[in-house]
Amino acid sequence: MDYAFILDPLPELKAYKDSSVAMMRSLARRGHAIYATQQSDIYSHLNAGVGSETASTRARVVPLALLPGDHDWYSEGAPEDRALKDFAAVLMRKDPPFDMEYVYTTYLLEAAEREGACVFNRPRAIRDHNEKFAIARFAKFTAPTLVTRDAARIDAFIDEHRDTIVKPLDGMGGASVFRVRADDANRHVIVETVGHHGARTAMVQRFIPEIGDGDKRVLLIAGEVVPFALARIPKEGETRGNLAAGGRGVARPLTDRDREIAAALGPPLWAEGLLVVGLDVIGDWLTEVNVTSPTCFVEITQQSGFDVGAMFAAALETATGGSGA
Ligand SMILES: Nc1ncnc2c1ncn2[C@@H]1O[C@H](COP(=O)(O)OP(=O)(O)O)[C@@H](O)[C@H]1O
Ligand SMILES: [Mg+2]
Repeated sequence: MDYAFILDPLPELKAYKDSSVAMMRSLARRGHAIYATQQSDIYSHLNAGVGSETASTRARVVPLALLPGDHDWYSEGAPEDRALKDFAAVLMRKDPPFDMEYVYTTYLLEAAEREGACVFNRPRAIRDHNEKFAIARFAKFTAPTLVTRDAARIDAFIDEHRDTIVKPLDGMGGASVFRVRADDANRHVIVETVGHHGARTAMVQRFIPEIGDGDKRVLLIAGEVVPFALARIPKEGETRGNLAAGGRGVARPLTDRDREIAAALGPPLWAEGLLVVGLDVIGDWLTEVNVTSPTCFVEITQQSGFDVGAMFAAALETATGGSGA
């Protein structure tokens, strides 16, 4: 079958650690054809007055031959213009920022869905689902948290909980995530900076000391949990476990609590069309529900021997009604 991936420019992907590359390789190994495209190559033609059947959402796609190795890991075929509905599935794997262009892409992909395209993660679900705020739906698994623009409320929260994390709702890779203790001389300026003087909504959360053992990435694929998590352990002198902030990834079997959280979130998220979800769990607490372009496939596979890419490929085949090429 033919699968199209919406990606950042291919030369920017680091094949040796990129989850999208791992997904594509697993599908190719099972005999499927892989096509790459970018946000900027998707377009929709609406023939006004003729009727909605004549709408077509298409993209300039490039067939890829996937090669072993980390550098010259693909070769490109001749570009083609194809309707997105003609692929067995379209995989949206563009990295954030989650800006208006990202939102517009979800509109285009929804138009493709109306024409019969199968898109993962579902455009509506990724648009409606803020990766930080989404924990509110699963509040029984979260540490005490406040979301607000009101600096006075954030202040009161810091006074009450004493040791906290203040973060914007739209960051990734640990960007602008601050640890703020009640006696921090910079606490007010941090709140002002993250909240843009009350113009931007921020999240403040009780500090979870188990971050020393790592921020665990628990992957859900089609509602099923991957049996190993990647604990991202902050480097010396750092609060943030993100690999992008120098954290070290260590694969570990799931704890009972990790499994409890995964079992509760897996079915409803998959029902919304979220095929690949990356939960962040610190100690016993859910801190993020990543849906835009979750990672850690390669690290978990290499360290645990459990083939995450194969699990993904099998789930995608099942979801798109076929097995093998
Ligand atoms: N409540 C918390 N307690 C302790 N550390 C936290 C907490 N929230 C976030 N962190 C730290 O900050 C990092 C980034 O936070 P996260 O909410 O996952 O945002 P991002 O989208 O940038 O990954 C985490 O990996 C963790 O190290
Ligand atoms: Mg995170």
